[in-house]
Amino acid sequence: MIVYLNGSFLPKEQALVPVEDRGFVFGDGVYEVWRIVNGQLFEADRHLARLTRGLGELRIAPPAESEAARIQEIADRLITENGLADGEGTLYLEITRGVAPRAHHFPPAGTAPTVFAMARPFVPPEELRAKGVTAVTVPDIRWLRCDIKSIQLLPNVMAKQAASERGAFEAILVRDGVVTEGSHANVVGVIGGEIRTHPTNNLILPGITRAVVLELARSVGIPVREEPFLASEISRLDELFIAGTTADVMPIVRVDDQIIGGGVPGPIARRLQRELRAHIDATCAAVSA
Ligand code: PDD
Repeated sequence: MIVYLNGSFLPKEQALVPVEDRGFVFGDGVYEVWRIVNGQLFEADRHLARLTRGLGELRIAPPAESEAARIQEIADRLITENGLADGEGTLYLEITRGVAPRAHHFPPAGTAPTVFAMARPFVPPEELRAKGVTAVTVPDIRWLRCDIKSIQLLPNVMAKQAASERGAFEAILVRDGVVTEGSHANVVGVIGGEIRTHPTNNLILPGITRAVVLELARSVGIPVREEPFLASEISRLDELFIAGTTADVMPIVRVDDQIIGGGVPGPIARRLQRELRAHIDATCAAVSA
């Protein structure tokens, strides 16, 4: 596997970061994950815009790699070198505030951010998407800037582990009785034919898949209300699904002990899976040689 680190392409084993990197010491950085389809980045610009915004919010000096053309060059090379021109993959990009002696305040101006990128094959979990998965609810103990895609993911890690230990695919996070999102995807419910999902504010990550799926829903006449639902309303939901880069539209058919929609994926989730697939195929069409 060939990865990118601070200007160089090199074997993963040789890509080493100093122990004083602020990503390692403080979790001081941001990341982004793109879906690669047919060797192309799905929604390249929206992911880049979220990354740029995150850097700005954390006041990390944007490196050259946060420019669209440079990212595209790096992605193209990683896709070619790692044999990802066909099928699906993911591109992971991480930018930290760089290397400096440990002190909480920012390092001196001019400290170069650390930039790391890797592209890996991804096998879409088609069978799970067809059958649906289970979830558990856990308290959302995260900070109040969940809109920033920070590499500091401890609450997400703990939540997903709690789900795994209970045999579930995803953890649904609940803050003050309100369903916010999942450990690594946004959460979308359907009540009475209408989509309900938490609005984009400081309490959730503004998912690119969420945005695309809501646009697709509106375009085919499915009503969308960007208002949260309560954990106590889960039993009343007709459908529930998560939306994310690796989740796609993943139906959830049971939450804790509550069966959703008779235990099978509902018509709106299945429709949106098809709409998303068509949108991906249209925007990431295979380039013929
Ligand atoms: N996770 N919410 C959270 C907390 C996430 O971590 C993610 C993405 C999403 C969905 O965002 P998008 O549709 O832009 O992927 C929502 C990535 C995939 C990850 O951490 O691997």
